[in-house]
Amino acid sequence: MENEVYQRILSESNKKKLEKTLSSAEDLAAKSIGYPCNFAFDYSELLPFFSYSFNNLGDPFNSSNYRLNTLDYEREVIDFFADLTDMPVDERWGYVTNGGTEGNLYGLFLARETLPEAIVYYSEDTHYSIGKALRLLNMRCIMLRHQKNGEVDYEDLKESVKIHRDLPAIVLATAGTTMTGAVDNIKIIREILKENLISDFYIHVDAALSGMILPFVEDPQPWNFSDGADSISISGHKFIGAPVPCGVVLAKKSNRDRVARSIEYVGALDTTLTGSRNGLSPLMLWYAINRDGKVGFARKVKYCLGVADYALNALNKCGIPAWRNKNSNTIVFPKPSCDVLEKWDIAVYRDIAHIITMPSTKHKQVDALVNDLLDYPA
Ligand SMILES: Cc1ncc(COP(=O)(O)O)c(C=O)c1O
Repeated sequence: MENEVYQRILSESNKKKLEKTLSSAEDLAAKSIGYPCNFAFDYSELLPFFSYSFNNLGDPFNSSNYRLNTLDYEREVIDFFADLTDMPVDERWGYVTNGGTEGNLYGLFLARETLPEAIVYYSEDTHYSIGKALRLLNMRCIMLRHQKNGEVDYEDLKESVKIHRDLPAIVLATAGTTMTGAVDNIKIIREILKENLISDFYIHVDAALSGMILPFVEDPQPWNFSDGADSISISGHKFIGAPVPCGVVLAKKSNRDRVARSIEYVGALDTTLTGSRNGLSPLMLWYAINRDGKVGFARKVKYCLGVADYALNALNKCGIPAWRNKNSNTIVFPKPSCDVLEKWDIAVYRDIAHIITMPSTKHKQVDALVNDLLDYPA
């Protein structure tokens, strides 16, 4: 029956178009080595859920009149990430987002509602979603210089904060910068704010990728709630992997209360950015979390960092000056030739490029890339 409907609606040319896209997907995934996407996932057990319109409108920790939802799964997902990020038990709150960008926008929104007079300090290496969020929220901001490894320049932060000691501060720190995988140390950032006697401050951490790495390494850089974060955004489709973009934002309940509004017609508390929210992505994250568990994720992180070391050695052995930051699966090297860029999906920024070793990255992919870098030098 479903097939009949499909055939009646879709023309032959449209069906061909779909087939072509599907058949090229595997090839494209194999060449995508420069972007933080884990292609190794399997949610086929969840396919029957695609026949229903699950919608998580409202706050995940409150009820909703729209009962076709997955709010109970979402709460479990938030609890899992709250554990990973050392969130204080009495302050635990968050929701499943459409990705890292929404989490950053939300974190900055809460920060502005908490400290409306504050200046936002952020590094020139932050993801472009931050600049956009600052424009949307019309927040006063200062861009800081970065260090060579991509970490924020703490001296520049010190100087800038000193000049504006009369105003509260919001600091946007990144755990795993987009181009070099650097982690801004939020303990140092807090010390700088305190040294300058700034008592009103808020720290949002954009941990799009490294939010799923740092909880599983032996010696993580300070980045989480016990180190002083007020909110954290993590992408779900990156390290965990999913067929649709998703993520989580974690924020202190007391700060969330500042923006909460009760909406009578849906019987829900309006605390999230969008009204209707994807009910399937919490289900996928819940599935991945329960299938892999902390032990499974720890193994995957170890694997990714192992492949990162392998790639680094292979590149250095060939005379390519590649490097990586501590606890990062991002390997940075000089921008390769056009021939290599045509063959591989590699992220490039100015004169550098990078590859990111994800759970789906194979050693043989790294070998093939290194061979191409040698065959087609820059
Ligand atoms: C550091 C950082 N923040 C935010 C994002 C945006 O995340 P998303 O694509 O999940 O919106 C990215 C994406 O690569 C990123 O690298």
